[in-house]
Formats: sequence, structure tokens, C-alpha cells
Amino acid sequence: MLRKIFIAGNWKMNLTLSASLELSAGLRGQIGGVSDVEVAVCPPSVYVQQVAAALKDTNIGVGAQNVYHKDKGAFTGEISTGMLLDIGAKYVILGHSERRHILHETNEDVNLKTLAVLASGLTPIVCVGELLAEREAGTTEAVVRDQFEGSFADVSASDMKRSVIAYEPVWAIGTGKVATPDQAEEVHVFVRSLIEKKYGKEVAESVRIQYGGSVNDENAKEILAKSNVDGALVGGASLKVEPFVKIVKSA
Ligand code: 13P
Repeated sequence: MLRKIFIAGNWKMNLTLSASLELSAGLRGQIGGVSDVEVAVCPPSVYVQQVAAALKDTNIGVGAQNVYHKDKGAFTGEISTGMLLDIGAKYVILGHSERRHILHETNEDVNLKTLAVLASGLTPIVCVGELLAEREAGTTEAVVRDQFEGSFADVSASDMKRSVIAYEPVWAIGTGKVATPDQAEEVHVFVRSLIEKKYGKEVAESVRIQYGGSVNDENAKEILAKSNVDGALVGGASLKVEPFVKIVKSA
């Protein structure tokens, strides 16, 4: 089964509108026509529309970093899947560790969002990953299993197949401490086994599992060479044209 490598940039709460457009123009010029790798950028939601316009007619998709699960109504401060579709988004990152740990999102919240995103036709990139203390306590698999099962509760096999999972060990995010390729591969194999147990081999072999956590233009190639690492969710190194282009090219 050939899984298309998928590199996504998570800009988090960074950049200004003009810097976002400058970055988009640079990416457009250098990798706008890339076809053997799937590429996306996820700006802050207030910039999604303009970034999507700046990347129109390229192969670079645009995603959001969060969404609310309800369609509309009295939910001050929230944004719906319909609104994201309206402004040109294709993807939504869900359950990022910063949302789980800083904004206190639970597996149940992530599940409601995942179901809403799938129902809307957007593609979810659902993040899972353990804290350093959890890795040291030997509970990585238990934590990741819990997050996977919780986040994908009630998701059908056909929806699972078009979902993307990002394994992001929390201790590797923004710390410069990248997981070794073998550490990443080990958890990716485990996540794929969880998918297989619930949905069967065909679905498990189709789902892309990205690695995230201090990926840069120097370490990307080695991590992406692992057979169960199907891409990367890149934070810091996605904020500048050159490293992000290099990561995409190394894929
Ligand atoms: P860094 O690449 O900055 O470590 O961030 C990873 C991440 O959280 C991507 O979602």
C-alpha cells in the first residue's frame, strides 16, 4: 500500500498577516507545483482566508488549528467547520498537545470535533502523544491508546481511512529534542496496530501517520525514511520558507 507522504506546517499563534502572505508567496514560488508529496500549511484561523487566496491554484492546501463541533449558535469565540470550508480550508489540526494541556481539551472534546470535521468533508489531523513523565513511567502506549480510542470513538471505517494522525511526543515539541527515528517508528507501528485492531488491515495500511516534534531540515530525511512515518507536522521550521521547502523536498 502506497501512502502519499504528507507534510503540514503548523504555524501556531505566530506571524502577522503580512508575514503570512510573504511566507505563502515564497512557498508558492518554490513548492507550489509539488505533486508527489501532499503539502499543507495551517495558519492562525484569522489568516486562513488570505493564505488560501495566496496559495490558490497551487498544490499547497490550507488548514486550521482548531474548530468547534457545533454548526452554529451561541458559542462566543468559536468557529464552525462550515465557516472554515467557506474560507478555503481543507484540513483541521485537532487535539494538539497545546490544546490538550494548555486549553484542557479532553479526548471527548477531540472526538466531538473529529466527528464534526469528518461530517463536514474537511480532513482532520488528529494529534496524539505522551508527556516526558509518561514516557519515563513506561506508559507511552497506554496514553496513546487512550487518545486514539477516545478521539476516534464512533468514527466509521471509511472516515478513519481519510483521517490523518500526528504522533507528537510532547517532550519533543519546541524543545529541539527530536524523537529518534526508531522511537518514532515504534510508536507509529503501535498506532497502526490500534487502527488495524479496530478497522482491519486495509484501513490501517491506508492511514497516514505524521511525526511531529522538532522536525527540521536537518533531521527530516532520516525520520521520513522510516516505513511507518508518512509525513511530518512541522512547527517552528514551518515559519520560514527555506527550512519548510527543504523538508518538503527531502520527502
Ligand atoms: P515544533 O516543530 O516547533 O517542535 O512543533 C511541533 C508541533 O507541535 C507541530 O504541531
